[in-house]
This record gives sequence, structure tokens and C-alpha cells, in this order.
Amino acid sequence: MKHSNSPNALFPNNTEKSKTLTNLHHVLQKVKNQTANHKVTPNADISTFRQQLNAIDFNQSIELTEISNWTIHQLQHGLVQMTHPGYMGLFNPAPTFPAQVANIICNAFNPQNCVWSHAPVAVEIESHVLNHMIARIGMPTTATGHFTSGGSEANATAFVCALHYKNSDYAENGVTSFAGQPCIYVSKESHLAWLKIAATAGVGRKSIRLIATDGQGQMDAKALQKTIQTDIKSGHIPIMVVATAGTTNAGKIDPINACRKVCDEHEMWLHVDAAWGGALIVSEKYKNRLAGIESADSITIDAHKWFATSMGAGMFFTQHKKVLSSLFSVSTDYMPSNDIEQDLYVNSMLWSRRFIGLPLFMSLATVGWNGYAQHIEHGIDLIAYLAKKLSQKGWQLVNHSDMAIACVLPPENSRLTPSQIVEKIIQKGEQWISVTKFENQYVIRICITNGMTTQKHIDDLINNLLESTNND
Ligand SMILES: Cc1ncc(COP(=O)(O)O)c(C=O)c1O
Repeated sequence: MKHSNSPNALFPNNTEKSKTLTNLHHVLQKVKNQTANHKVTPNADISTFRQQLNAIDFNQSIELTEISNWTIHQLQHGLVQMTHPGYMGLFNPAPTFPAQVANIICNAFNPQNCVWSHAPVAVEIESHVLNHMIARIGMPTTATGHFTSGGSEANATAFVCALHYKNSDYAENGVTSFAGQPCIYVSKESHLAWLKIAATAGVGRKSIRLIATDGQGQMDAKALQKTIQTDIKSGHIPIMVVATAGTTNAGKIDPINACRKVCDEHEMWLHVDAAWGGALIVSEKYKNRLAGIESADSITIDAHKWFATSMGAGMFFTQHKKVLSSLFSVSTDYMPSNDIEQDLYVNSMLWSRRFIGLPLFMSLATVGWNGYAQHIEHGIDLIAYLAKKLSQKGWQLVNHSDMAIACVLPPENSRLTPSQIVEKIIQKGEQWISVTKFENQYVIRICITNGMTTQKHIDDLINNLLESTNND
């Protein structure tokens, strides 16, 4: 690679910047135009890559264009490609174009959103989006929200808010302020980052109760009630129920209203983890599938999942504004202010924070709720199409999700297991799908995450699935 002798490579002059950016735009465009014709799966020779990487030892400087082109080449060949229309995998979207533009703008200014007075315009753009989200969800207008690094941070925020709500001594004295083991109730189909969250919140993994599901991937409300009653009898302290709205495995929605009832009965916090499925709120046709979400004490919705912004952008909403500031408030001399109404570092987990909400703001502003509704409904329609076509060939849809995700099984006479079929598909490299366990059986999981996936791409997947089982 060409070595750089630029005296000021970190902060070059405008001419050099323009030259670099023109090249970058050109190369990226070319690579992106090729994505759909390349494999969705990585094909990099990892030992060559490692050799090249090890040669970059930072003792010599490399021209920025050289290192950019090298990095782009590595990413083109060394990633599962989220922007490929055949990526039908985990909740990792192809980012919207307005989100990509937003990131360019954000990087140009690098606003510090932790304190209002440093970035009043950026903070207020975020609040504007969040308030519209709150109205769309149907939460009371007194509810508040903030952007997070992702769903895990939003869920962790819910966790500590619930602990503090139950016992206002928690912020000062931690778990020792509870007279018994605090317990949190999630379904066994929930996103198991809850275990990590419990470990780091100081209550320990044993505080998580994995409630049985009803055979359809949804939390069994009777089992929930029974577990809580047993815990109370044993001297434990029930804190929070988490209803997942859009399980990671299968896109199922826990019975939110039944969970609310249980929470009211036992004075518990209800959190709805709608990290992926929360995007249904944009669709007039489908938003009633989330009925009851508005009654939650807190909600997680990720912008970087079905809203298809770039990572990492989550959102946390709560009806209990004061709990946030009781937990996160600090006073320091070096910060310009510590206003709990509008300084995000005193009412959320993060301190320094980027302008996380801009990609969602620009995406929403560009297409409106209706445009997003089309995006969501398109995904649901494609999955319905896939399920219908596959069932005509003897395949079975097992999850019947209200969202854009299908868990399927091959015809009974297939000699290949779901893992073997998925392996064949991934080896071919035209689609990326996965295998998971749903209600105790291995299934093939197909999820629409890319707004550019069309019926033709679904037909291609169906052909590959049928071909893989015909040749078994
Ligand atoms: C239901 C659910 N909750 C939480 C998370 C964690 O979100 P993140 O990956 O943004 O931290 C995920 C991730 O897939 C999820 O599916």
C-alpha cells in the first residue's frame, strides 16, 4: 500500500478532502451496485486477510484513499451482507437511504447530545421524533423517551427503572435494599440478553424467571401468575414482567393485556420489549396487533431493526419520568448544566452520546408514517406469500407470526434436517437464512429485513429450498 507523507492527514485541507470523498463515493457506489449479484455470504480468504491486517502495524502511515479502498474491499468480501436482498436472517436491516445521508450529516458536525445547551437543535429533533412515537404508541402525553445504543441498553434501563420504582432505596444501596431476591419474569422465548442485564445490574442471573410458553411461542399467562405466587410464598420480591412483542425466534407477541393485569395485581412494572415488533405502530392495518402496549410502564423499540436505520439506535419510553432522573442524575462542576428536564446525561445511561435519532428523523420525514407502513406491510405480505407457496409444496408453517417472519419445516418425508437444509442454502450463497428452535423443535427461520427484497427474491429462495430437499 502507498505510504502517506501528508503532514496533516488527520485534518487535511479542503482540496484533499474533496479528492478523497469523490473517490470514496465512486468506489462505494460501484461496490454497492454489485451487492445483489455477489454472494450474501462472506468469501474472503481469512488467512490472506489476516496477513494483510498484521502488516498494518501503525509504524508507517498509509494514504487515506489506499486504506479506505482496502477496507471497502475487505468488507465487500468478509461480511454477511445485510444490504443483500437475499439476506433474510436476524433483525439486521439494510439501512434506509435517508439514514445513510443522516449519518454523513451527523459525522460532519459530531454533535454532543448529552447536554441540551451543547446541541439544542439536535436534542430537540430527537425529542420531536420521540414525542411523535409516544403519540403513535398511544402512551400518555406525560410519557418520556430517549434514544439508546440499542435494544439491550433500553431493556437494561427498564430493568433498573423497575427495581428503583419498587424500592426507591435501590439507586443508593443497590440490591441490598431488598428484603428478598428480586425477580423478573420473561418468557423462555424472550431475548436472553435479560440474563446479561441481570448479571450486570447486580441482582444476578438467578433473578430471571423463564416462564413457559403456550405451545405457540407466547408467554403462558397462567404459568406467569403461578410462578409469581410461588415466589411470593418463598419470600422473593416480584419486580417486573417483560412481554416480548416480536420474539427474536419467531415474531410472536406475548399477551400484553394479561401481563398488565398480573402486574397490577402484584404492583409490578410491565415492560414491553418491542425491539423489533414495535415498528407495527406505523401501520393502521396492523398496529392493533400490539394492543395494550400503551399501558406499559416502559417500552423498548429499536430504530435499527424494522425501522431500518443504521446501527446502533434504540428507543426507550416510560410513563415514569421521575424514576429516570432519580437513577441517573449526577451533579458535576465541569458540565454546563444538570437539568433533569432536558440534559440527557442526567436521565439516561449514556454520558457522551451521538445524534442517534437523526437517521430515524430523516427517514420518517422523507416517507412519513405511510411510507413506513408500506415498508412494514411489504415484509408481512412477502412472508404470507412465502408461507402459501411453501405449504402448496407440503412444507409447514409453524409459527403463524403477526410479523414478517416465518418458521418452517420441510415435508415430513424429507431426509434432511432444518440445519442441513440451511447449511445447503448458505453454502450456495444466494440467501442467508437461519435455523432456530421454536417450541422445542428445530425449524428454518426466514425473516424479511431488507426493504429491497421482492417477490422474485422469495421465489428464488423457494426454488433453492425445494431444490435442496429434492436432492436429499
Ligand atoms: C426482542 C429483542 N429484544 C432485544 C434485543 C437486543 O437488541 P440490540 O441487539 O439492539 O441490543 C433483540 C435483538 O435481536 C431482540 O430481538
